[in-house]
Amino acid sequence: TGLTPAHAEGKKVLNIAHRGASGYAPEHTMPSYKLGKQLGGDYTEIDIQMTKDGQLINMHDETLDRTTNGTGAVKDHTLAEIKKLDAGSWFNHTYPQLAQSRYVGLKVPTLDEVIDHFGQSTNYYIETKSPDVYPGMEEKLLQTLDAHGLLTPKALQEKQVIIQSFSADSLKKIHKMNPHIPLIQLLWYEGEGKGKITGKEIHEIKKYAYGVGPNFSKIDRHYVHKVRHHGLDIHPYTINDPQQMNQAIEWGVTGIFTNYPDQLKKMVHR
Ligand code: G3P
Ligand code: CA
Repeated sequence: TGLTPAHAEGKKVLNIAHRGASGYAPEHTMPSYKLGKQLGGDYTEIDIQMTKDGQLINMHDETLDRTTNGTGAVKDHTLAEIKKLDAGSWFNHTYPQLAQSRYVGLKVPTLDEVIDHFGQSTNYYIETKSPDVYPGMEEKLLQTLDAHGLLTPKALQEKQVIIQSFSADSLKKIHKMNPHIPLIQLLWYEGEGKGKITGKEIHEIKKYAYGVGPNFSKIDRHYVHKVRHHGLDIHPYTINDPQQMNQAIEWGVTGIFTNYPDQLKKMVHR
Protein backbone atom coordinates (compact mmCIF):
# COMPACT_ATOMS: atom_id res chain seq x y z
CA THR A 1 0.00 0.00 0.00
CA GLY A 2 1.33 3.37 -0.95
CA LEU A 3 1.47 5.37 2.22
CA THR A 4 3.70 8.40 1.90
CA PRO A 5 6.00 9.46 4.71
CA ALA A 6 4.65 12.23 6.93
CA HIS A 7 7.20 14.73 5.64
CA ALA A 8 6.06 14.15 2.06
CA GLU A 9 2.55 15.13 3.10
CA GLY A 10 3.94 18.37 4.47
CA LYS A 11 3.44 17.07 7.99
CA LYS A 12 6.41 17.54 10.30
CA VAL A 13 7.85 14.46 11.96
CA LEU A 14 7.82 15.54 15.60
CA ASN A 15 11.21 15.58 17.28
CA ILE A 16 10.50 14.53 20.86
CA ALA A 17 13.45 15.07 23.21
CA HIS A 18 13.12 12.02 25.44
CA ARG A 19 13.64 13.03 29.08
CA GLY A 20 15.31 16.07 27.49
CA ALA A 21 18.51 15.44 25.52
CA SER A 22 19.10 12.56 27.89
CA GLY A 23 21.84 11.05 25.74
CA TYR A 24 24.04 13.99 26.74
CA ALA A 25 22.88 15.22 30.15
CA PRO A 26 21.17 13.75 33.23
CA GLU A 27 17.56 12.89 32.31
CA HIS A 28 14.78 15.09 33.66
CA THR A 29 17.04 17.92 34.82
CA MET A 30 17.08 21.52 33.62
CA PRO A 31 20.32 21.08 31.61
CA SER A 32 18.82 18.08 29.82
CA TYR A 33 15.62 19.97 28.94
CA LYS A 34 17.53 23.08 27.83
CA LEU A 35 19.79 21.02 25.61
CA GLY A 36 16.84 19.10 24.17
CA LYS A 37 15.37 22.35 22.98
CA GLN A 38 18.69 23.79 21.75
CA LEU A 39 19.43 20.64 19.75
CA GLY A 40 16.17 20.78 17.87
CA GLY A 41 13.57 19.05 20.01
CA ASP A 42 10.04 20.21 19.16
CA TYR A 43 8.75 18.64 22.35
CA THR A 44 10.23 18.21 25.82
CA GLU A 45 9.28 14.73 27.00
CA ILE A 46 8.48 14.57 30.71
CA ASP A 47 7.60 11.60 32.92
CA ILE A 48 5.73 12.60 36.05
CA GLN A 49 5.49 11.05 39.52
CA MET A 50 3.69 12.42 42.58
CA THR A 51 5.21 13.15 46.00
CA LYS A 52 3.77 12.26 49.42
CA ASP A 53 2.42 15.82 49.65
CA GLY A 54 0.77 15.68 46.23
CA GLN A 55 3.29 17.60 44.10
CA LEU A 56 4.14 16.52 40.56
CA ILE A 57 7.84 15.95 39.99
CA ASN A 58 9.68 15.02 36.84
CA MET A 59 11.17 11.57 37.21
CA HIS A 60 11.04 8.37 35.20
CA ASP A 61 11.21 5.80 37.99
CA GLU A 62 8.77 5.27 40.83
CA THR A 63 11.77 5.15 43.16
CA LEU A 64 14.51 7.66 43.84
CA ASP A 65 17.34 5.16 43.73
CA ARG A 66 18.57 5.22 40.12
CA THR A 67 18.65 8.94 39.36
CA THR A 68 19.29 10.51 42.77
CA ASN A 69 21.34 9.84 45.90
CA GLY A 70 18.10 9.04 47.76
CA THR A 71 16.32 5.72 48.20
CA GLY A 72 12.74 4.52 48.36
CA ALA A 73 9.47 5.39 46.67
CA VAL A 74 8.66 8.90 45.47
CA LYS A 75 5.19 8.55 47.05
CA ASP A 76 6.77 8.12 50.49
CA HIS A 77 8.75 11.39 50.31
CA THR A 78 7.69 15.01 50.48
CA LEU A 79 8.78 17.51 47.87
CA ALA A 80 10.99 19.21 50.49
CA GLU A 81 12.78 15.91 51.12
CA ILE A 82 13.23 15.24 47.41
CA LYS A 83 14.55 18.76 46.83
CA LYS A 84 17.52 17.94 49.11
CA LEU A 85 18.68 15.19 46.74
CA ASP A 86 21.35 15.28 44.04
CA ALA A 87 19.87 14.32 40.65
CA GLY A 88 23.03 14.80 38.56
CA SER A 89 25.97 12.96 40.11
CA TRP A 90 24.66 9.52 39.15
CA PHE A 91 25.09 10.55 35.50
CA ASN A 92 28.73 11.55 36.02
CA HIS A 93 29.42 8.18 37.64
CA THR A 94 27.54 6.18 35.02
CA TYR A 95 28.87 8.10 31.99
CA PRO A 96 32.34 9.40 32.95
CA GLN A 97 33.02 10.43 29.34
CA LEU A 98 30.01 12.80 29.45
CA ALA A 99 30.51 13.96 33.06
CA GLN A 100 30.37 17.68 33.82
CA SER A 101 30.99 19.33 37.19
CA ARG A 102 27.87 21.48 36.75
CA TYR A 103 25.73 18.35 36.94
CA VAL A 104 26.75 17.75 40.55
CA GLY A 105 23.95 18.73 42.91
CA LEU A 106 21.26 19.29 40.28
CA LYS A 107 17.77 19.27 41.75
CA VAL A 108 14.77 17.17 40.79
CA PRO A 109 12.50 19.66 39.00
CA THR A 110 8.77 19.92 39.54
CA LEU A 111 6.53 20.04 36.49
CA ASP A 112 5.46 23.52 37.58
CA GLU A 113 9.05 24.82 37.67
CA VAL A 114 9.84 23.49 34.22
CA ILE A 115 6.74 25.03 32.63
CA ASP A 116 7.47 28.24 34.53
CA HIS A 117 10.95 28.31 33.04
CA PHE A 118 10.21 27.41 29.43
CA GLY A 119 6.73 28.86 29.11
CA GLN A 120 5.61 28.62 25.52
CA SER A 121 9.16 28.37 24.15
CA THR A 122 8.84 24.59 23.99
CA ASN A 123 6.02 22.10 23.70
CA TYR A 124 5.42 19.50 26.41
CA TYR A 125 4.88 15.80 25.96
CA ILE A 126 3.89 14.59 29.41
CA GLU A 127 3.51 10.99 30.58
CA THR A 128 1.36 10.02 33.55
CA LYS A 129 3.54 7.35 35.15
CA SER A 130 2.05 4.74 37.48
CA PRO A 131 -1.30 6.55 37.71
CA ASP A 132 -2.69 3.70 39.85
CA VAL A 133 -0.15 4.56 42.55
CA TYR A 134 -1.08 8.25 42.53
CA PRO A 135 -4.78 8.98 42.94
CA GLY A 136 -5.51 12.52 41.81
CA MET A 137 -2.53 12.71 39.50
CA GLU A 138 -4.61 13.58 36.42
CA GLU A 139 -6.53 16.34 38.23
CA LYS A 140 -3.28 17.85 39.49
CA LEU A 141 -1.75 17.67 36.02
CA LEU A 142 -4.67 19.45 34.38
CA GLN A 143 -4.69 22.11 37.12
CA THR A 144 -1.00 22.74 36.53
CA LEU A 145 -1.42 22.99 32.76
CA ASP A 146 -4.42 25.28 33.13
CA ALA A 147 -2.56 27.56 35.54
CA HIS A 148 0.12 28.02 32.87
CA GLY A 149 -2.30 28.81 30.06
CA LEU A 150 -1.65 25.51 28.32
CA LEU A 151 -5.30 24.50 28.03
CA THR A 152 -6.54 27.50 26.10
CA PRO A 153 -8.22 26.80 22.74
CA LYS A 154 -5.10 28.10 20.96
CA ALA A 155 -2.70 25.98 23.02
CA LEU A 156 -4.83 22.90 22.45
CA GLN A 157 -5.19 23.60 18.75
CA GLU A 158 -1.42 23.99 18.39
CA LYS A 159 -0.78 20.89 20.48
CA GLN A 160 1.47 22.79 22.87
CA VAL A 161 0.88 19.89 25.24
CA ILE A 162 0.43 16.22 24.44
CA ILE A 163 -0.36 13.75 27.21
CA GLN A 164 0.78 10.14 26.90
CA SER A 165 0.34 7.07 29.07
CA PHE A 166 0.56 3.30 29.03
CA SER A 167 -2.60 3.41 31.12
CA ALA A 168 -5.74 3.61 28.98
CA ASP A 169 -7.70 4.37 32.17
CA SER A 170 -5.54 7.42 32.88
CA LEU A 171 -6.00 8.72 29.33
CA LYS A 172 -9.75 8.07 29.38
CA LYS A 173 -10.01 9.94 32.66
CA ILE A 174 -8.20 12.92 31.15
CA HIS A 175 -10.34 12.73 28.03
CA LYS A 176 -13.44 12.87 30.19
CA MET A 177 -12.15 15.92 32.06
CA ASN A 178 -11.15 17.70 28.85
CA PRO A 179 -11.90 16.07 25.48
CA HIS A 180 -9.74 18.59 23.61
CA ILE A 181 -6.36 17.55 25.01
CA PRO A 182 -4.34 15.57 22.44
CA LEU A 183 -3.60 12.12 23.86
CA ILE A 184 -1.23 9.34 22.82
CA GLN A 185 -1.73 5.74 23.91
CA LEU A 186 1.66 4.19 24.68
CA LEU A 187 2.02 0.51 23.84
CA TRP A 188 4.62 -2.06 24.80
CA TYR A 189 5.17 -5.20 22.76
CA GLU A 190 7.34 -8.07 23.90
CA GLY A 191 8.07 -11.67 23.08
CA GLU A 192 8.67 -13.33 19.73
CA GLY A 193 8.05 -11.57 16.45
CA LYS A 194 6.73 -8.11 15.72
CA GLY A 195 3.89 -6.45 17.59
CA LYS A 196 0.40 -6.62 16.10
CA ILE A 197 -2.49 -4.21 16.50
CA THR A 198 -6.03 -5.19 15.52
CA GLY A 199 -8.62 -3.01 13.85
CA LYS A 200 -10.72 -3.38 17.00
CA GLU A 201 -7.90 -2.09 19.21
CA ILE A 202 -7.37 0.87 16.89
CA HIS A 203 -11.10 1.59 16.98
CA GLU A 204 -11.06 1.59 20.80
CA ILE A 205 -8.00 3.86 21.02
CA LYS A 206 -9.51 6.33 18.55
CA LYS A 207 -12.32 7.00 21.00
CA TYR A 208 -9.95 9.02 23.22
CA ALA A 209 -6.48 9.30 21.65
CA TYR A 210 -5.23 10.66 18.35
CA GLY A 211 -2.25 8.35 18.13
CA VAL A 212 -0.15 5.54 19.51
CA GLY A 213 3.39 5.30 20.86
CA PRO A 214 4.76 1.76 20.48
CA ASN A 215 8.28 0.51 21.24
CA PHE A 216 10.14 0.88 17.95
CA SER A 217 12.02 -2.42 18.16
CA LYS A 218 8.78 -4.40 17.82
CA ILE A 219 7.11 -2.59 14.94
CA ASP A 220 7.54 -2.73 11.19
CA ARG A 221 6.35 -0.98 8.03
CA HIS A 222 3.10 -2.92 8.05
CA TYR A 223 2.29 -1.81 11.60
CA VAL A 224 2.93 1.85 10.76
CA HIS A 225 0.82 1.68 7.61
CA LYS A 226 -2.03 -0.01 9.42
CA VAL A 227 -2.36 2.56 12.19
CA ARG A 228 -1.93 5.48 9.80
CA HIS A 229 -4.48 4.12 7.35
CA HIS A 230 -6.91 4.05 10.24
CA GLY A 231 -6.21 7.72 10.85
CA LEU A 232 -3.99 7.50 13.91
CA ASP A 233 -0.64 9.24 14.36
CA ILE A 234 2.30 7.13 15.48
CA HIS A 235 5.28 8.18 17.64
CA PRO A 236 7.56 5.21 18.33
CA TYR A 237 10.01 5.23 21.25
CA THR A 238 12.98 5.39 21.70
CA ILE A 239 15.09 5.71 18.52
CA ASN A 240 18.70 6.71 19.00
CA ASP A 241 20.29 5.21 15.89
CA PRO A 242 20.21 7.55 12.83
CA GLN A 243 19.62 4.66 10.40
CA GLN A 244 16.62 3.53 12.40
CA MET A 245 15.33 7.12 12.47
CA ASN A 246 15.51 7.15 8.69
CA GLN A 247 13.74 3.83 8.45
CA ALA A 248 10.94 4.96 10.76
CA ILE A 249 10.46 8.18 8.78
CA GLU A 250 10.34 6.25 5.54
CA TRP A 251 7.67 3.93 7.00
CA GLY A 252 5.58 7.01 7.71
CA VAL A 253 5.81 7.67 11.46
CA THR A 254 4.62 11.12 12.51
CA GLY A 255 6.97 11.62 15.47
CA ILE A 256 9.98 10.03 17.15
CA PHE A 257 11.10 9.92 20.77
CA THR A 258 14.89 10.22 20.91
CA ASN A 259 17.62 10.86 23.47
CA TYR A 260 19.56 12.57 20.64
CA PRO A 261 17.32 15.26 19.09
CA ASP A 262 20.31 16.62 17.15
CA GLN A 263 20.60 13.34 15.24
CA LEU A 264 16.94 13.45 14.27
CA LYS A 265 17.19 17.10 13.28
CA LYS A 266 19.95 16.19 10.82
CA MET A 267 17.65 13.88 8.86
CA VAL A 268 17.12 15.29 5.40
CA HIS A 269 13.48 14.33 4.99
CA ARG A 270 12.02 16.52 7.70
O1 G3P B 1 7.07 7.88 26.71
C1 G3P B 1 7.66 7.15 25.69
C2 G3P B 1 8.67 6.31 26.34
O2 G3P B 1 9.40 7.17 27.16
C3 G3P B 1 8.02 5.26 27.18
O3 G3P B 1 8.95 4.57 27.90
O4 G3P B 1 9.91 3.97 30.03
O5 G3P B 1 11.05 5.66 28.62
O6 G3P B 1 8.94 6.23 29.79
P1 G3P B 1 9.74 5.15 29.13
CA1 CA C 1 8.24 8.40 28.92
